[in-house]
Formats: sequence, structure tokens, C-alpha cells
Amino acid sequence: MLFTPITLREMDVRNRVVMPPMCQYSAASDGMANDWHLSHYMSRAVGGAGLIIMEATAVTPGGRITDNDLGIWSDGHVPMLRRIAAKVRSEGARVGIQIAHAGRKSMATESTPVAPSAAAFDDGYKNPAELSTDEIKKIVTAFAGAAKRAHTAGFDLVEIHAAHGYLLNEFISPITNKRRDRYGPTPEDRVRLLKEVIRAVREQWPEEKPVSVRISAIDYAPGGIELKDSLDVVGRLENEGVDIWHISSGGITPEAAPSDHPGYQVPYSDEIKNRLNVKTITVGKICSPEMAEEIVANSRADMVALGRELLRNPYWPLHAARKLGYDMKWPKQYERAKIQGS
Ligand SMILES: Cc1cc2nc3c(=O)[nH]c(=O)nc-3n(C[C@H](O)[C@H](O)[C@H](O)COP(=O)(O)O)c2cc1C
Repeated sequence: MLFTPITLREMDVRNRVVMPPMCQYSAASDGMANDWHLSHYMSRAVGGAGLIIMEATAVTPGGRITDNDLGIWSDGHVPMLRRIAAKVRSEGARVGIQIAHAGRKSMATESTPVAPSAAAFDDGYKNPAELSTDEIKKIVTAFAGAAKRAHTAGFDLVEIHAAHGYLLNEFISPITNKRRDRYGPTPEDRVRLLKEVIRAVREQWPEEKPVSVRISAIDYAPGGIELKDSLDVVGRLENEGVDIWHISSGGITPEAAPSDHPGYQVPYSDEIKNRLNVKTITVGKICSPEMAEEIVANSRADMVALGRELLRNPYWPLHAARKLGYDMKWPKQYERAKIQGS
């Protein structure tokens, strides 16, 4: 099942293996992608991944986690991103990009971080400024502009980053959102910004291309989001044109103690997928082909992302296919190595 294709809107993906977004912190301070990004993503496409989602890419300069994050806030970012997207596609993979705003976790040196409420993430982080409603509108517009550029650059999928304690997650979680306006404190208010962002992105992003949203299913902290709250969030957004939910967890507060055992986030994907009848990507310490196969075959997720495992081994899908008895097409340049022991 791991090597069966899947179609999201008009995007056909050759298998269910996803490379999840992983920041490389390797861009110049203008947010431009470079040859590192090209070879990094290309090699995972050569290795057989079905869908590669490029790392958190900032929608504004102040929305970067660090000064070396990728950016997509200007048209100048498009040419190199287009080159990477085209190369990844030429190896048979599909390519997405995660569009992101770091909120209060931004450590970009030349800006003051912004957040739903004015409380710092931890010692060593700058105090964020509370966003006004006018500023919130500008952030929605920035996400829409990023989606438009991602389309121009030829990406197949756009993923909205609403996980890991970054800006959109900060609005969702009652730990970080203490507002008393349209954007908090009720569950409906706290999900409003994400809803506005999805709508604005959908307006700029073509009908035939899929949208993914990454969320943190639980906060692992008292007073924070639990699985029932995430079910509520996804339920509230089910008619907004999201095609797949990328289910992660944690990141909202430094006190939280996330789980870290193999497949620790699979149960959240399972619940969200099967209770709400939506498509999901699961992720988190999934390393063996058998485990990835089990997850898809038992409908606990539609796709399986492997982060650190794909950093360790860009060719994981080629090896996993062999182990699972699937005859995967190898890149023609490497065909002579396909037969083990040859
Ligand atoms: C180096 C590194 C960078 C990461 N950057 C991002 C990111 O840009 N966006 C994101 O949503 N998650 C990011 N993550 C989290 C991964 O996407 C993934 O959810 C996490 O590593 C758990 O999966 P794994 O156990 O398969 O590595 C990052 C993880 C790593 C190791």
C-alpha cells in the first residue's frame, strides 16, 4: 500500500512517502534559495519520495525563524524556487512548499516578533508585539501573496504551517492566545485567523492544486490543545478547501514535554482521519518500511512522512520498496545498481 499512487485534486503522487518540511537554515539573509536547497531536494526526489514538501518558507521577513530561513515574500524569490520545483518534478516526485510565519518564535535580528498576545516564548526570545486587527489583515495578505508566488514557481501543493508554536498555532492555542476580540478567546475566534488564511490562499491558489495544513494535534501542556480540540479545529475548517491535514504535535511552549516514541503521532492522525473522514499525512519517528506500510494499509493515514530518516538516507523509498517486494522504477542513471549484490 505504501507504493500505491494517490491523487489530491489533479496532483497524482507516485507513492505515499512524503518528505516533510525541514528547515535548512541555509539561505542568505535575503531569503534566497541556493544550490544547497537544489541538491538537497533533488536527492530525495532521486531517492523515490512521492511528495517533497519544502521547508518553512517565510511569508514576511519578520516571519522568519532565523535570518537564514527561505523567503517567499518577494517576486525575486521565485526564479530559484522555480528551478528547484522543476528539477524535483523532473525526477518524478511532486513538490510542495510550506508557507510560514514564525510569530513569537521569530529570532530574525532586524524585526520585533509579533503574536496574538504579548508574551515571550522563553528566556532568550524577544518580547513580541500584540498584533492589531489591521496588522492581522496584512499577514493574511502575505500568505495569499506567498501562495500566488508558489504557483508561479510551479509548486504542486502549498502547505500552510499552523503547527509547532508558530504564528497560526499561537492563535489556535489558548496558552498563547489571550485576545478579547474577533480572534479570541472562544474556539471559533481562535480558529478565525487560520480560516482567513486558508480562504485567502485558496483564492490565489488554483482550483486544481491541493492545499495541505499542518497542525499540532496536542500541546502536551496544561490548559492547552488536546485531541478533542484539534478535532474541533479540523471540523470547523472542513469546508474550506483543505485537501490533506498534516498531523504533528507540540511546540507551543518550552515547558511541554512531547512524546518521542516510534509513531508517536500516528494515533492523532488515525483519530482525525477516521472520525472526520478527511485525508491525513502522519509523521514522527517512522523509520521502518513495515511500520509505514502498516499505517497506510490500516488507514491510519493516507501518506507517511519521514523527516530525519530521509536526512539519514535520501534513498529510503528505493530500499523500502525492495523490502516490501514492490518493483519500483529506479532513476535510469542508477539502474545498474538496482540488483542487490550485482
Ligand atoms: C532539521 C529539521 C528541521 C525541521 N523544520 C521544520 C519545518 O520547517 N517545518 C515543520 O513543520 N517542521 C519542521 N521539522 C519537523 C519535521 O517536519 C518532522 O515533523 C519531525 O522531524 C518529526 O518527524 P521525524 O521523526 O520523521 O523526523 C523539522 C525537523 C527537523 C529534524
